[in-house]
Amino acid sequence: MFTADDIKYIGVQDKITDLFESQYPLPDGVTYNSYVILDQKVAVLDTVDARFCDEWLQLLQSSLGQRQPDYLIIHHMEPDHSAGIKAFADKYPQAKIAASAKAFAIMKGFFGTDFADRQLKLSEGDVLGLGRHSLRFIAAPMVHWPEVMMSYDEQTGTLFSADAFGRFGVPTANCSPIDEARRYYIGIVGKYGAQVQAVLKKASALQLTGICPLHGPMLAGESMRKMLGLYDTWSSYRPEQQGVTVAYASIYGHTGAAAEKLAEMLAAHGVQTQTFDLARCDMYQAVASAFRFDKLVLAASTYNGDVMPAMRAYIQALTDRGFRDRTAAFIENGCWAPTAARVMRQMLQDCKDIRFAEPAVKLMSDLDDGSAEQLRQLAEQLK
Ligand SMILES: Cc1cc2nc3c(=O)[nH]c(=O)nc-3n(C[C@H](O)[C@H](O)[C@H](O)COP(=O)(O)O)c2cc1C
Ligand SMILES: [Fe+2]
Ligand SMILES: [Fe+2]
Repeated sequence: MFTADDIKYIGVQDKITDLFESQYPLPDGVTYNSYVILDQKVAVLDTVDARFCDEWLQLLQSSLGQRQPDYLIIHHMEPDHSAGIKAFADKYPQAKIAASAKAFAIMKGFFGTDFADRQLKLSEGDVLGLGRHSLRFIAAPMVHWPEVMMSYDEQTGTLFSADAFGRFGVPTANCSPIDEARRYYIGIVGKYGAQVQAVLKKASALQLTGICPLHGPMLAGESMRKMLGLYDTWSSYRPEQQGVTVAYASIYGHTGAAAEKLAEMLAAHGVQTQTFDLARCDMYQAVASAFRFDKLVLAASTYNGDVMPAMRAYIQALTDRGFRDRTAAFIENGCWAPTAARVMRQMLQDCKDIRFAEPAVKLMSDLDDGSAEQLRQLAEQLK
């Protein structure tokens, strides 16, 4: 799998954490990837989450054999990758810690020390020669934190890409790799499309043969080309394909039933649709779906002159991530004074290039002849 025999994988599988960043469900777990390059100099690349540091240190020790590490390279200071720095530093006092200046500042916050006497400060373009391998550092600010660096192994053409190009799910999981990469990217980095575009530009100048992200499998060949293409699409906010996301938040179920009915009509027209009950689903699957397709239907009950809280949270999650360049449509419901459609439209008003499909469907409690006709008209507009 790896592009050189002297690069060893020492990552771990997390099958116990329920929510990544306390937000994103992990039904198939996640990996924290770490590598050791056993060249003339020995470099360890990143650490792992706190719950797995003992396991990681054992993996490291058995890869090292009789050798000692010269460097610990930290690409990203988020705790899922940096929790083991202190334990490593204590165990291997002669090893230097290599990271960006910003990473050292963050290190001080986490560990009370920035390891001043053993720092190797890295900047864009610096090259760390290990013998056969030399790592060239590439700044990747805000992909996903400000201090992030990637490194490019000039000998093998491998990019150690930090969080970029990663995904949820352990390798043995029976999940869709693309769906899990999309849910991961849109959820975690989606807001920073411009910064991802900048990194893609830098990557296009490299002779890439493989990408080693900090989560999920290593990418090479077709899987790498496909992921680079998807990152270009996602980070420029273009829809990946035609289709409709139908997301609803319904108190008693009438709005949900209308939304499901619309989805059935669209499916009958041969339109690809995904339907989400926002009160019950993993909201970030619905977020990822909205970025995947070119059309979005928002269906919600009115709630205290506003909109159902689950829908408010959903639209906020979309706008937080720069949602744009899509067609949006509304279904609202209320017994006495529906306001949901107005609120939902207002929440989208600052998004760029949103086209609204008409009519907005209005239910006064349950579908009647008039609202059923509106629903049919909307299906015609969206097919
Ligand atoms: C706490 C609460 C607040 C509500 N506020 C409003 C309101 O401000 N205006 C309105 O027309 N209906 C309001 N409703 C009524 C629902 O919007 C209405 O029953 C709607 O038909 C529910 O659709 P559903 O069956 O899809 O949940 C409220 C209901 C609840 C439980
Ligand atoms: Fe991160
Ligand atoms: Fe991460």
